[in-house]
Amino acid sequence: MRIGMLTGGGDCPGLNAVIRGAVRTVAVEHGGEVIGFRDGWRGVLEERYEHLDVDRCRGILPRGGTILGTSRDQPYTRPDGPGRVAEVVERLGLDAIVAIGGDGTMGVTKDLHRDGVPVVGVPKTIDNDIALTEMTFGFQTAVQICTFSIDRLHTTAESHDRVLVVEVMGRHVGHIAVWSGLAGGAAITLVPEEPFDIDEVCRRIATRHRRGSWATIVVVAEGAVPAPGTLDVAAPPVDAYGHQRLGGIANVVAAEIEGRTGIETRTTILGHVQRGGTPVAFDRVLATRFGVAAVDAVADRALGEMVALHHGDIVRVPVADAVGHQKVVDEALLRVARVFAPPLPDEGEGPATEG
Ligand code: F6P
Repeated sequence: MRIGMLTGGGDCPGLNAVIRGAVRTVAVEHGGEVIGFRDGWRGVLEERYEHLDVDRCRGILPRGGTILGTSRDQPYTRPDGPGRVAEVVERLGLDAIVAIGGDGTMGVTKDLHRDGVPVVGVPKTIDNDIALTEMTFGFQTAVQICTFSIDRLHTTAESHDRVLVVEVMGRHVGHIAVWSGLAGGAAITLVPEEPFDIDEVCRRIATRHRRGSWATIVVVAEGAVPAPGTLDVAAPPVDAYGHQRLGGIANVVAAEIEGRTGIETRTTILGHVQRGGTPVAFDRVLATRFGVAAVDAVADRALGEMVALHHGDIVRVPVADAVGHQKVVDEALLRVARVFAPPLPDEGEGPATEG
């Protein structure tokens, strides 16, 4: 068996565990070779790769990032790109390319499969928003980092009786915000799925503080947006690939809270600290299972399929069915979050809202 592997898009803890799982499966169960392309699809287009074996993978299981490097380059942005990928697969005698990445990488995987290139997908994103897989590796690590951070912020917020607004990742969806908000006991969690009303946020905080609640932690996903017509927010800048460079909504929210309630409010933007460093055990295991399953898919000629987690089992789904739409936060989990932030009573009466 000869497999090419690549990691595309933003990095995420667990990528190396996938690579290691795949390399070990080829070595132990099939024999053959694994080639690791450098820097995502760019390495395929430029034919830059290294040979991966069991020795090369020693020590990488707990290591964050990706030993292969990554980029957001895509073959379909160049006229000769798809043909070039097909040529490289042919020249290197690959049974398939195993592409590990997020929605962008899975989109390329879908299109290459349509164009006859042998590919298998492995879903990756800390945002946990890829459809048809219950979870992606890296997500639990990000949630753990956010939860540790929120725990620490509680004590300083309480000491100063401040509002602390914590911004976490979550471009289109609020999985990290809802999980870490619940785990960290946030009073308010703002997610992209439910545009927020800053008036209501401020009224909730003012009510809490009037009733003597200790401080307030607000968790806001970087992709959270105000309800139409409620608050002006400048459009974020766009990166070289046309993606909005998010980050900073917490500053807007914090300024509004302080301005409207008079309660001192500070911001913590966790940023890439959520993505760096060692994966938690769950992510190491899920990533390893995905790596093994990706090689199984190549062996079974299940091309154009993506490995996925479904009811705790590793399954395959057509990559075409997984791309182009996000997995949003489950209504049942949003309801659990709402239990800790119930509807506000009319001014001056009703039950307390606690976080
Ligand atoms: O999609 C994963 C993610 O971490 C998002 O939460 C975030 O908006 C984005 O990647 C940022 O990526 P980068 O900083 O690498 O452009």
